[in-house]
Amino acid sequence: MQESPTNELVENIKSRALDELHLTSSQSDLIKWKTTYLGRKSELTQVLRSLGAVSPDSRKQIGASANSAKSELETCFATQEQILKNAQISEELESEDSIDVTLPGYQIEPGRLHPTTQTTREICKIFSSMGFQTLEGPEVEWDKYNFEMLNIPKHHPARDMWNTFWIDQEKDSEEHPILLRTHTSPMQARIMEDNDPPIRMVVPGKCYRYEATDATHEWQLTQIEGLAVDDGISFTDLKGTLYEFAQRIFGEERKVRFRCDYFPFVEPGVDMSIDCFSCNGAGCRICSDTGWIEIMGAGMVHPNVLESVGYDPNRYTGFAFGMGVERIAMLKNGINDVRLFYSNDLRFLRQF
Ligand code: DAH
Repeated sequence: MQESPTNELVENIKSRALDELHLTSSQSDLIKWKTTYLGRKSELTQVLRSLGAVSPDSRKQIGASANSAKSELETCFATQEQILKNAQISEELESEDSIDVTLPGYQIEPGRLHPTTQTTREICKIFSSMGFQTLEGPEVEWDKYNFEMLNIPKHHPARDMWNTFWIDQEKDSEEHPILLRTHTSPMQARIMEDNDPPIRMVVPGKCYRYEATDATHEWQLTQIEGLAVDDGISFTDLKGTLYEFAQRIFGEERKVRFRCDYFPFVEPGVDMSIDCFSCNGAGCRICSDTGWIEIMGAGMVHPNVLESVGYDPNRYTGFAFGMGVERIAMLKNGINDVRLFYSNDLRFLRQF
């Protein structure tokens, strides 16, 4: 037989419920408690259901206290649930297989310089130790500097050596064409135009050519230009400087070879080779069985170039040189495809 509901009964249920709630120590204790004290068959639900049997006056009073007891129990349940959850989290943190928040965080891998940048810096540093300043110039260039002032007039066949990307222009400015520079040599003209001798400078920078790409050709490349102009500079200075450079970058045992070559802005013009560091000149795949590896073009600054910048060619002489940075980096590091430099493959880049 069901006890008839009274305020005392409600109070009694509530105080037992709260006592037991404080004893719960796990999720399953909590579920059990909730079924017992707040479930469909709980004592409190019974009280509410049996209110019809009591006098209207008591019904109102008992109903109110039963409802307030119910909502108090619900609030206390939610609080206890949170307390147990927090306890579980700190227990997990303390146990061995959880995260140790006192450990240092994951190390973010530091970036590194691109192999082209590393090689550029290495080369400039060597020349800097020999008194050459490093400076840069524009990648978008006037035809005037890229060709004309370098003794390559319009329609001259020597232009065929450098196919380039031309920039579209308004009709009325067509007589001053603009292009992506094909080499760093235009900086020779720009520097001489703005400065008096003595000049000793190297210019690293990106160049562009209209080129079908393959393992040794890219449409974007990095060059380093060199220029020294002064009273009495001779071919001996060119040879001495570039020989020193070759030994510093490829090893003291390197020999160098100069052969005649044609570049419109120098006279005489040469190409410089080093003896093959792989076979020491005996002949192998790297040097195409010749024993020599070409590393740059050079020569004595052409009198026409000196004149075009307003220098007196009877007073001043100078030498110039130009090399491809990727080519030097390929030789130094045994890289067999120039396209790797700009394909952004981290497996390649992380090796440097
Ligand atoms: N500008 C030339 C090229 O891109 C390289 C070069 C050759 C530069 C001879 C020079 C030089 O300064 O004297 O092929």
